[in-house]
Amino acid sequence: MKYHVKDMELAPAGRLRMEWAEREMPVLRRIRERFAAEKPLKGVRLSACLHVTTETGNLVRTLQAGGADLVLVASNPLSTQDDVAAALVTYDEIPVYAIKGEDNDTYYEHIHAALDHRPHVTMDDGADLVSTMHKKRPEVLETVLGGTEETTTGVIRLRAMAEEGALNYPIIAVNDALTKHLFDNRYGTGQSTLDGVIRATNVLIAGKTVVIAGYGWCSRGIAMRAQGLGANVIITEVDPLKALEAVMDGYRVMPMIEAAPVGDIFITATGDINVIDQPHFEVMKDGAIVCNSGHFNVEINLPALEALAGHEPRIVRPFVKQYTLPDGRRLNVLADGRLVNLSAAEGHPSAVMDMSFANQALSAEYMLRHAQELEHRVYAVPEEIDQAIAALKLEAMGVAIDVLTEAQRHYLGSWQEGT
Ligand code: ADE
Repeated sequence: MKYHVKDMELAPAGRLRMEWAEREMPVLRRIRERFAAEKPLKGVRLSACLHVTTETGNLVRTLQAGGADLVLVASNPLSTQDDVAAALVTYDEIPVYAIKGEDNDTYYEHIHAALDHRPHVTMDDGADLVSTMHKKRPEVLETVLGGTEETTTGVIRLRAMAEEGALNYPIIAVNDALTKHLFDNRYGTGQSTLDGVIRATNVLIAGKTVVIAGYGWCSRGIAMRAQGLGANVIITEVDPLKALEAVMDGYRVMPMIEAAPVGDIFITATGDINVIDQPHFEVMKDGAIVCNSGHFNVEINLPALEALAGHEPRIVRPFVKQYTLPDGRRLNVLADGRLVNLSAAEGHPSAVMDMSFANQALSAEYMLRHAQELEHRVYAVPEEIDQAIAALKLEAMGVAIDVLTEAQRHYLGSWQEGT
């Protein structure tokens, strides 16, 4: 078996951490038990390009229990947990290609290894696997039946491909399931981003001004948790509706150029480029901390910062690079502008990834059953899957809810009754 991981001796530690995560993933556990009995993925070659974490470890073991013949590669050069990669190779005989800190060439060599597997199903986080296949390896398309996509940025890229008529197979947008983005993007990104900032810097959040770029589901979570820790939160937005929501949720809203001189900590989560740019660096305070929680490392214009500084940054702590500007101000960039929650911390906690990855597993199963009927576009996760996951999660949490009476059901379905 071929694979490329950092250090096989880390395997026992990875195994233990996966076990720990699994305790918080009851919905995925249930799916794994059914998959082991029914083998819905038997004989299916599946290439997964995901953040290699303990939670992903439990997902790929679920897919393997369902009969899938898998390869797993990193979906980001800095997010791999090397012990998990080693454990999956050692104990589960899953070929993994992922090393934390891999350079860009190695990252793409790993993506090509996933394509060499000639998948029937792709599972992507950010759409690098799908776009590389379409751009560089079109011969691989011949065997692909369908795929799934985990994240907002990936779904946006895939929809753009579909609109141009460039997408050559159907994909299910796992991100758009309610049991995914309302929980993983909001509570997962909220907690893990603050966790990343705190682990990297150990700064006190209380009393700090935290500037958050964007007010989508991820930013909402970050804002909520930063405020909960005592920060003064400022939101920057380009969408009037989201900006209005941020105002009504009690945050200050202003353009980035006004926020730049007052912020202590800056966190981007917009999915767009150069959200923090040269004019902002020029007016930031000495000691400002700048980081990103969006999928790609394009939100902070680091080349502009390097040019302003005119020399290499100092590494002052793990995951903290300090740029000293000619006027003496020091700006601290976390995790090279890559996802701070997965680079400096461990990504979203298992309890939310439970739902995201339940969506992945069930969407892969659905895709195999229905690929022949689907067009080459991006599909929503079927509502019944979303509802079933929410019900299973509640059950696992020991939370019971009411059931509509017959009269209530009738009332909701009728239009005659009014005042
Ligand atoms: N994306 C964000 N957090 C994650 C995690 N813990 N595992 C896999 N993908 C993630």
